[in-house]
Amino acid sequence: MAKKKSRYVCQSCGYVSPGWIGKCPECSSWSSFVEEVEESAPSAGGKKIHEPNVSAVNLREVRGLETERTKTGIGELDQVLGGGLVKGSVILVGGEPGIGKSTIMLQSAGILSGGRGRVLYVSGEESAAQIKLRAERLGIGTADISILPTNSLEDVLSALDKERFDYVVMDSIQTVSSAELNSAAGTVGQVRHVTYRLVEVAKGRAITVLIVGQVTKDGYIAGPKLLEHLVDTVLYFEGDYSRGLRILRSVKNRFGPTDEVGIFEMSDKGLIELKNYSFADDADRSVSGRVNVPVIEGTRAFLVEVQALVAPTFYQFPKRNAMGIDLNRMNMLLAVLDKKGGLNLAGSDVYINVAGGMKITETSADLALCAAMVSSYRERAIAPETTFIGEVGLTGTVRPVSNMKSRVAECYKMGIRKFYLPEKVEFDKKIEIVLTKDISSFLDMF
Ligand SMILES: Nc1ncnc2c1ncn2[C@@H]1O[C@H](COP(=O)(O)OP(=O)(O)OP(=O)(O)O)[C@@H](O)[C@H]1O
Ligand SMILES: [Mg+2]
Repeated sequence: MAKKKSRYVCQSCGYVSPGWIGKCPECSSWSSFVEEVEESAPSAGGKKIHEPNVSAVNLREVRGLETERTKTGIGELDQVLGGGLVKGSVILVGGEPGIGKSTIMLQSAGILSGGRGRVLYVSGEESAAQIKLRAERLGIGTADISILPTNSLEDVLSALDKERFDYVVMDSIQTVSSAELNSAAGTVGQVRHVTYRLVEVAKGRAITVLIVGQVTKDGYIAGPKLLEHLVDTVLYFEGDYSRGLRILRSVKNRFGPTDEVGIFEMSDKGLIELKNYSFADDADRSVSGRVNVPVIEGTRAFLVEVQALVAPTFYQFPKRNAMGIDLNRMNMLLAVLDKKGGLNLAGSDVYINVAGGMKITETSADLALCAAMVSSYRERAIAPETTFIGEVGLTGTVRPVSNMKSRVAECYKMGIRKFYLPEKVEFDKKIEIVLTKDISSFLDMF
């Protein structure tokens, strides 16, 4: 007889406890435990029944997997996927509510259904009429997509038994549950179980499965983080809502590179690809404290505008504030400018902002950050045709960084001709390179 067993699972981090507890010992969140009832497998005489049905295979005899890729037709998405969708793979697309997950799924479904395979769109949160409304807005109202509005995994599996589909979109994983478990949809157990079954189906029948996962700001709902290891590819949608920008990022990819990014603009006709997007604003030549700097995301270089404001302080302690860069990094650069460059900023408030809501995590922007701060301090504008690339060390030396050439190429494309660099770069177009090996000589030149 199948036995029922209760356990309590933290909805924030997945920690499992045999009894209910108020505070999670793992992630310290309060009242996050939810009961889940598990049915254990039938047993005979206290021993589990196990019938072996697999045997080991020699690697030499294993046939290689052909990674057959299909383009989604959305160039930026294909690039993030590493060249397209791999047959039989499972892709998780996570993002905050309203960011555009359903939009990109429906847009891709529309293109895929036009001769690239049969598509089943499972919606646990919207009715068929709501999906039709969105499809009409996206201009794909008559696409050959099968819509299945359901909250039951069993409905999905039976639809897949009845008809052959090449692609399944599951929108979203938190709204579909299985009758095999007693817990509610969206709980850790359900989300994991439904994903397991979908992975099984994808691998067994060579169906490509796209799973939408909701991410809340506090990450409280059982979400994509718990599923990352189960799926082949994990994409996250982020956004700069003020500009209508959407950034799609791959954080895991079993079939391609990670850290690739795709950039879109959200419009009433859906997501529009932005191929050569620059995060740098049209520059006003007379404004001090701003500089354009190239950053690398995956295989792409972007031009990003860094702004600095250095102003006399009215407080007992000067204020230091950084948006889009690490505050510790900024403090370290200020210390280097002080000690090695002889710049006295002790009486100044310093603010840094990276325009467009971008985040710079690379040390390659160190020199540019120093340049922006010095430019604001001395009230001397930096020409928009000038940029600075290099990592600044505690000793005040400026060091080369990776992908120097692609950074220079991206800058050249955006009109930059003068480069402060720690080493010479071979480049086939005419550019001016100012060799910058340490901070003190940099401050003299600048
Ligand atoms: N008529 C419209 N014109 C322009 N943009 C629109 C329009 N309708 C919706 N949008 C945009 O689409 C976004 C919603 O997209 P979508 O439903 O794909 O997001 P989602 O991530 O699936 O959201 P949820 O988490 O609620 O399912 C809105 O936030 C808005 O930016
Ligand atoms: Mg949605």
